[in-house]
Amino acid sequence: MPEVRAVCEHDVMKRPLFGLSPLLFCALFFHVLLAAPLRGAPAAIAIPDDHGAEVAEAVLREGGNAIDAAVATAFVLAVTYPEAGNLGGGGFITLHHQGTDRFLDFREAAPGRASRDMYLNAQGNYITDSSLIGHRAAGVPGTVAGLWEVHRQYGTRPWKTLLQPAIRLARDGFVPHPQLIERTREAFADYEGKTNFREYFGSLGQSNAAQQPFPQPELATTLQRIAERGPKDFYHGRTADLLVAEMRRGGGLISHEDLRNYRAIWRAPLQWSWRGYTLVTAPPPSSGGIALAQLLGMKDALAADFKDAPYLSTRYVHLIAEIEKRVFADRAEYLGDPDFVTVPVSELVAPQYLQRRAQQINRAAISSPPGVKPGLAESLQTTHFSILDGAGNAVSLTYTLNGSFGNGVVVRGAGFLLNNEMDDFSVKPGVPNLYGVVGATANEIAPRKRMLSSMTPTILLKDGVVQGVLGTPGGSTIFTSVFQTLVNMFDHGMTAAEAVSAPRFHHQLLPGTLIIVSRCCNLPDKTRAELVAMGYDVRQNSWEFGDMQVIQRTADGGLTAAADPRGRGQARVFELMPRAARPAEPRSRPATVAE
Ligand code: DON
Repeated sequence: MPEVRAVCEHDVMKRPLFGLSPLLFCALFFHVLLAAPLRGAPAAIAIPDDHGAEVAEAVLREGGNAIDAAVATAFVLAVTYPEAGNLGGGGFITLHHQGTDRFLDFREAAPGRASRDMYLNAQGNYITDSSLIGHRAAGVPGTVAGLWEVHRQYGTRPWKTLLQPAIRLARDGFVPHPQLIERTREAFADYEGKTNFREYFGSLGQSNAAQQPFPQPELATTLQRIAERGPKDFYHGRTADLLVAEMRRGGGLISHEDLRNYRAIWRAPLQWSWRGYTLVTAPPPSSGGIALAQLLGMKDALAADFKDAPYLSTRYVHLIAEIEKRVFADRAEYLGDPDFVTVPVSELVAPQYLQRRAQQINRAAISSPPGVKPGLAESLQTTHFSILDGAGNAVSLTYTLNGSFGNGVVVRGAGFLLNNEMDDFSVKPGVPNLYGVVGATANEIAPRKRMLSSMTPTILLKDGVVQGVLGTPGGSTIFTSVFQTLVNMFDHGMTAAEAVSAPRFHHQLLPGTLIIVSRCCNLPDKTRAELVAMGYDVRQNSWEFGDMQVIQRTADGGLTAAADPRGRGQARVFELMPRAARPAEPRSRPATVAE
């Protein structure tokens, strides 16, 4: 550097300094001064597909924050991950921004014309698939309102700019991933003759689908309108008109008034201390945060029992199944939209309550479901991503259409799929939904009410610094998967990559003896045989549950990130150079970077 040499050779530098030759001292001084900022700030992403990952990384590299990256990514996934990424669905964001923790609820709401028994026939029986397929299964979408709201408060890059990658991918097409092709082909049979799904996604069924770009021109036009007019278009404008016209064609309930009245809602996140960390996660209308607090709390209350229960042993799986039974019993009874029912949140997560509840488990045998009362007085897709920017801001975002490709209805002229989130309501007390979970009255249908969710976008803090960002799809297996991933990392010392790849299992009260195990990776043979001998029915699930996306701060203060091998995601850790010092783009790598 000629300027540095010139300064170092200046007359003032001719005297010895601290016993060092002046030139050496000067060189060291400038090295420290200049090199320190050049080290850059580490950032990390864990995103469910490579298009989303590319865009998230690019936004962060161009100086956008985690919120900018999340908005751009969510719109991209609406194009490239149509089985779950969406404009026609809803979700939740858990956010850490400059020391503040917030939670944004952009869950779908029941249409104004919805009613408690809308999916029952004259005899009071559930009409098969009525809350799952077709127009009447859709709740009022929240995604566009949610992304707009989080960007309005925290974004730093222009909204319009952030939508450009999604518009380009929809207009020009992208080469579909084999997993997307497979899932689309599986969906054809479900919707055949019932919705217009094949009209829009039929080309993914062709034999050369994996070689052909898949453009979605109507979706590109809709995204362009949203880029220009934001939620005004979606809830009041041309897109609203197209959506309501689609409802009229198929006997759906969503009206102009429903769209006009929709709001994303800021709620206090659920926060509690766990082993010196603060967990920040989803409050109702998700059951996820309460369930996660109960799972972790009861496991800690049973620490003595877990000492004799090695990882994935029969005892380990049984104890966790017993805990899960109690969590699902509470979920079914107490949880629903807090704007409609009083949810006893603090009672449900109180340490004394969890202590007492944990002592009710049966250590030796399977508790039968009728004996487990509430304690106080899916191919199925959702998608999650985790982003941590160079300034330490984090976004944990889960959003969904509920089932894979939602209700299978594409809004004609607008090119996006609608959700079948209405199925997350308890359509009739005791009747299981798509995920086999039941509910009572707290989660019954009412106009404008939000259906109970299991989504658990979570952030882990220590002394105000983000230590972890994680979440996953998986319906009712979401919070048991988040729980097992945390336990894998904190109790079993696994790295993020090991923790997401490990086998996962799940029990949910009903059927009382069923334990499902992830499709990719089974429990050890011995454990399975012993669980069966105890009376459990241990089955590998027909659909893979979970696509965990984790960012973790390592013991040395670096970052590591992992995308679940069950999905098609990518995790990247990279250094962000200060703006002035960004000569060449450093390459990202799926590795650990020390801060
Ligand atoms: O909100 C919920 O809990 C469900 N609608 C999520 C669906 C889901 O995770 C599907 N993915 N496998």
